[in-house]
Amino acid sequence: MQNDRLSLSRENIRAYLGKRAASLHIRTFDSVDSTNTEAKRMALDGYEGQVLIAANTQSAGRGRMGRSFYSPNHTGAYFSILYRPEVSVDSAVTVTCATSVAVLRAIRRLTGRTCGIKWVNDLYLDSKKVCGILTECVSIGSDTHIIVGIGVNISTAFEDTELSFVAGSLGADSLSSSELIAEVVSELLPLLDDPGKREWLEDYRRYSLVIGKKISFVQNGESREGTVLSIDDDGALFVRLNDGEVLRLFSGEISLKMQ
Ligand code: BTN
Repeated sequence: MQNDRLSLSRENIRAYLGKRAASLHIRTFDSVDSTNTEAKRMALDGYEGQVLIAANTQSAGRGRMGRSFYSPNHTGAYFSILYRPEVSVDSAVTVTCATSVAVLRAIRRLTGRTCGIKWVNDLYLDSKKVCGILTECVSIGSDTHIIVGIGVNISTAFEDTELSFVAGSLGADSLSSSELIAEVVSELLPLLDDPGKREWLEDYRRYSLVIGKKISFVQNGESREGTVLSIDDDGALFVRLNDGEVLRLFSGEISLKMQ
């Protein structure tokens, strides 16, 4: 393998992939503003194929709801997959849910540890968020490109940051980001190629941190509380509010807290 096996490089990702994902184009950066933004630029420049973009650090890593994503150098896996779905994708939410299962499986295989999934797509270990996913669509004429961006904190230290109460890491200092990225890609591409199959749903429900739990959330500026009943086949959440009303929450733009 070129470079040492821990470092991020196209050659290392390819070596860990072996024969898998042979047609995937891979680009790596030492530093980039955001791998999702770079993917968007490639789509707008007319790039047609399936591409993986990964970086050692991001200067403007983006999270959901306009938040930033802390991406310090050489401590995490920051990467995006740009692709054009063969069949129309009914919603970015299901792509996001499938991705959380793919990352959970990859982390479990490489570290032996199983994360919990906080709806919609945050992965938690020991009550701290270790992975975030940002799915975006780019429409060019009648073509839709999807960008799935994934950030995993492999050995990131949060102790001295304002994120220390919510964010954590895998604590896997010897885990190679190239290996983790290769493992996630191998888990994820089959799910993206066959979105209708929804093979990921069983694990999505099994490892959900919210089913049966009391939650609070803000919807259209209004704070609400209830208990999560179930997650349906589209990844939507059924919640019984404290007054008995049952709501189906579909939007990934809802900020949800567990009580
Ligand atoms: C979230 O937790 O709100 C989503 C975080 C998504 C972060 C990843 S890191 C790679 C990709 N590039 C970005 O700018 N964001 C995603």
